Amino acid sequence: MVKPDGVDGKYANVIKKTILDSGFSIIHEIELQLDENTVKTFYAEHSSKSFFSNLVQYMTSGPVLIMVLEKENAIADWRALIGPTDANKAKTTHPGSIRALCGINSERNCVHGSDSSQSAAREISFFFDKSSSG
Ligand code: TYD
Ligand code: MG
Repeated sequence: MVKPDGVDGKYANVIKKTILDSGFSIIHEIELQLDENTVKTFYAEHSSKSFFSNLVQYMTSGPVLIMVLEKENAIADWRALIGPTDANKAKTTHPGSIRALCGINSERNCVHGSDSSQSAAREISFFFDKSSSG
């Protein structure tokens, strides 16, 4: 997912090019304005965290671009490509990462990636109809 600052900052196309150049296929994509309840449900695992209300505010601040990526080892490879949660640290430790490119800090890190096959399955069915294949 390209988060609101990534979409607003016109990073979607360069991110998509990086995705394709890195051997992923984009099998579904949709641009959506998320509402508060959707973000709260999507990020429910973080609901008790101090940053949760900021996260909800940030994630509803503009449209996001949601994509389903396909590749051998896609989950780990995408997490590696986006870099660490703290985009500010990423600028020194992972300078070639997507978060280093377009993120600011651990609150505003411009992209999301599922962290396991279970969360990928949950997140894909959260945004896309499970019965549709194209
Ligand atoms: P998390 O799942 O820990 O990171 P990741 O996106 O790398 O899987 O956190 C989810 C999101 O919550 C993160 O992308 C941005 C936000 N967040 C904050 O705003 N502040 C924080 O200190 C952390 C850890 C996360
Ligand atoms: Mg996470």
